[in-house]
Amino acid sequence: MSIIYGKRIRLRAAEREDVKKFHEWVNDPEVTRGLALFLPMSFTDEENWFISLAKRDQKEKPLVIEVRKGKAWKMIGNCGVFDLDPVNSSSEVGIMIGEKSEWNKGYGSETMSLLARHCFETLNLNRVSLKVYTDNIRAVRAYEKAGFVLEGRLREAVYKFGKYDDVLIMSILRSEWTSQKKDN
Ligand SMILES: CC(C)(COP(=O)(O)OP(=O)(O)OC[C@H]1O[C@@H](n2cnc3c(N)ncnc32)[C@H](O)[C@@H]1OP(=O)(O)O)[C@@H](O)C(=O)NCCC(=O)NCCS
Repeated sequence: MSIIYGKRIRLRAAEREDVKKFHEWVNDPEVTRGLALFLPMSFTDEENWFISLAKRDQKEKPLVIEVRKGKAWKMIGNCGVFDLDPVNSSSEVGIMIGEKSEWNKGYGSETMSLLARHCFETLNLNRVSLKVYTDNIRAVRAYEKAGFVLEGRLREAVYKFGKYDDVLIMSILRSEWTSQKKDN
């Protein structure tokens, strides 16, 4: 698979050198607030996770998000496809922008659009879904901008910061993606 280019961002394969940054991000409480990560992560944990990727299906390997800065590219986060179901042509997607200075610049929604395009036009899927905590308003907004629609609510499905929160399920279908493309 080659690098996936969008308007301002690109998605490339994760490299061993990226692990140091990933380790910083997964230990930042502001970044992990909306993620299913609860405990401090050691550098060895992160390295072992990276090593385990070698055995993962190519289609489900994480992708590094880079933004164009002049003539260079800056790594700001990662994203990926997981739980790919070939019988039902569906998968889940996820994203983490670890560079907090790059939040609220539209990169999250652009990444999710690009990932959806990848799922429909390269992986030939029909349905792409995600889960998001109700109080992660920034994420919900970013997903809506990328064309994902709310389809369900798992009540009190996550316990974080001393309270239960609902988990929202959002998705985009190939038919919606196609008509969205026509409108643009
Ligand atoms: C969630 C995340 C992917 C969003 O990416 P992003 O690049 O920051 O998002 P975007 O800039 O594309 O869109 C954010 C939108 O939320 C809005 N927003 C941000 N904070 C808000 C708030 N408190 N209330 C209402 N809207 C808010 C922004 O204004 C923007 O909408 P607009 O373009 O209509 O103005 C990114 O912030 C991130 O990775 N966070 C940490 C990890 C995480 O939570 N991952 C998602 C797990 S489901």
